[in-house]
Amino acid sequence: MTQDELKQAVAEAAVNYILPLLEDDTIVGVGTGSTANLFIDELAKHKSKFDGTVASSDASAQRLKDHGIPVYDLNGVDQIRVYVDGADESNHHLHLIKGGGAALTREKIVVACSDEFVCIADESKLVKVLGDFPLPVEVIPMARSHVARQLVKLGGDPVYREGVVTDNGNHILDVYNLEILDPIKLETQINAIVGVVTNGLFAARPADVLLLGTQEGVKTIKP
Ligand code: A5P
Repeated sequence: MTQDELKQAVAEAAVNYILPLLEDDTIVGVGTGSTANLFIDELAKHKSKFDGTVASSDASAQRLKDHGIPVYDLNGVDQIRVYVDGADESNHHLHLIKGGGAALTREKIVVACSDEFVCIADESKLVKVLGDFPLPVEVIPMARSHVARQLVKLGGDPVYREGVVTDNGNHILDVYNLEILDPIKLETQINAIVGVVTNGLFAARPADVLLLGTQEGVKTIKP
C-alpha cells in the first residue's frame, strides 16, 4: 500500500472507532492535515449520527462546512467526546510531535477539551525517539528572535518558517536536531519561554490511542 492508502485506511478505521460513541448531541473534535482531511471525508458519510464538530483550523472548518457538517465555536461547547487528528511523529508512549501544518496551538486547545484523543497516522510516523521531525514552536511575532536564542540554549537549531502565519496571527520556528528523550520536560521548558504560544510536543497530554496504518493492516496501539 502507498502512504496515501495507509492514511485512507486509518481514516476509515477512525470513523469505525468513534461510531459507537456517537449520539444525537455528540460533538466531535477534528484535527488538521492530510490524514485528518481523509477522516473528515469519511465522517461526512455519518453526519446525521452526531450533533457537530469543533475544528482545529480554519482549513478543517471549511472542509467540514463544505460537507454540510456543523462547526461550533469552542467557547459555546460543553464537552467534546472525542478528538481525531494526525501527527508528524509518535513514540510508543503516544507522545507526539504535531504542527507540521502550523495548527498546533488550536489542536492542543481542542485536545485539552476532549475526553479522548484518537491519533491516526501511517507507519512512517512511529519512532523510538522523537526529534527527527523538526519541532514546531508557535511564537508571538515580536518575540521570534528572543525565542530562537532560548531554543539554541536548549540544544536546538531553530529555523523561521518563512511566509507562514498561523490562524492566530503568529509565526512558527521549526527546531532541528533535538533528540527528545524527555518529551514532557522539554514541552514544559519550551512553553515557559516568554513569547512562546505553545510547542508541538503533545506529551503532557498524549494521545489515548494510535490507529497506525501498516502493510499488515491498521494496528491499535495504546501507551
Ligand atoms: C497540523 O498542524 C499537524 O499537527 C498535523 O496533524 C500533522 O502535521 C500531520 O499531518 P499529515 O496528516 O498531513 O501528515
